[in-house]
Amino acid sequence: MRIGMLTGGGDCPGLNAVIRAIVRKGCFHYQDEFVGFLEGWRGLMEDKSIALDLSSVGGILPRGGTILRTSRTNPAKKADGLDTCIATLEKHMVEVLIAIGGDDTLSVAQKLHEQGVKVVGIPKTIDNDLGGTDFCFGFDTAVNVATEAIDRVHTTAEAHNRVMVVEVMGRDSGWIAMYSGIAGGADVILIPELPFDIEKVAETIRLRHARGRYFSIVVVAEGAKFSSDVGPQQGGAIVQDLGLDDFGHVRLGGIGTILAREIEKRTSFETRTVVLGHIQRGGSPTAFDRVLATRYGIGAIDMVHKGEFGCMAALKGNKIVSIPLAEAIATNRKVDADLIEVSVGILDKLTDDKPALP
Ligand code: F6P
Repeated sequence: MRIGMLTGGGDCPGLNAVIRAIVRKGCFHYQDEFVGFLEGWRGLMEDKSIALDLSSVGGILPRGGTILRTSRTNPAKKADGLDTCIATLEKHMVEVLIAIGGDDTLSVAQKLHEQGVKVVGIPKTIDNDLGGTDFCFGFDTAVNVATEAIDRVHTTAEAHNRVMVVEVMGRDSGWIAMYSGIAGGADVILIPELPFDIEKVAETIRLRHARGRYFSIVVVAEGAKFSSDVGPQQGGAIVQDLGLDDFGHVRLGGIGTILAREIEKRTSFETRTVVLGHIQRGGSPTAFDRVLATRYGIGAIDMVHKGEFGCMAALKGNKIVSIPLAEAIATNRKVDADLIEVSVGILDKLTDDKPALP
């Protein structure tokens, strides 16, 4: 079978492990041929491709990024964008397309599926917020990077009697903040799911210091929201600029700096910010992500040969299963309530005996 493949959206540790697994199983077990479209959907729009074979995937398992490169190109925004993609697939005699991406990339895959293209999806995002799957690959690596950063920030916070604010990625969901915050022993964890009261954050820190602690760690997701008018946007996420990308997203970032300023103002404790940014997305995937990415790749190529089109490989419990793409893109998966309970359980309590946050 002749199979096309692309990686779309923000890059993610483990993309190369997925590509390698698909090509190896496809070549060794099914005698497939592969075409790699470059830079996400742009590769189909502009007919940019490379042949993918066993030699092209040699040695890529531990490498971050993606040998196919990526972009946030959205063909559905152009009048004839989807038709152009279909024409490129036909030109390359591609029978099935495997799209590796988050909700944006997979929403285009779904549109092509509705137009009769045979597609299979694989969930990718460090944000871990795609519906229908328990974990996306790349998330574990991002959490480990963030946790190590929090550990390092801990010792300098302790040495200087400071409050340290660590801003992590997480546009609509606070998975990275919640996992790394719990793993790193943060004192306050702020996530997009729960708009926060800056007064309560300050009070939590004051209370902690009043009982003898002289430093605090705050972990905040970039998409977390003040419940009151503190940042540039009332009640909304803090943005770097108001321009929108092809999928209608603003560029987030900067909440850590504003939060640090507000904490220092309210508590008089010296406060600093660290923004982890793209460091969370770069570099080699963890062993967990290499295994998960490999399992997704194997799951997807098997789905291709079982004719499970318009579907995505998903992790349910500890099994890779096939779910409709439509289900995966229907909802943005929020942080589980029980995980929020865990974080609340380890936070300092306010004087009214109610947990401060989230
Ligand atoms: O991949 C998702 C994500 O990490 C979001 O958390 C973040 O807002 C976005 O990517 C930033 O991506 P970029 O700066 O590469 O467009």
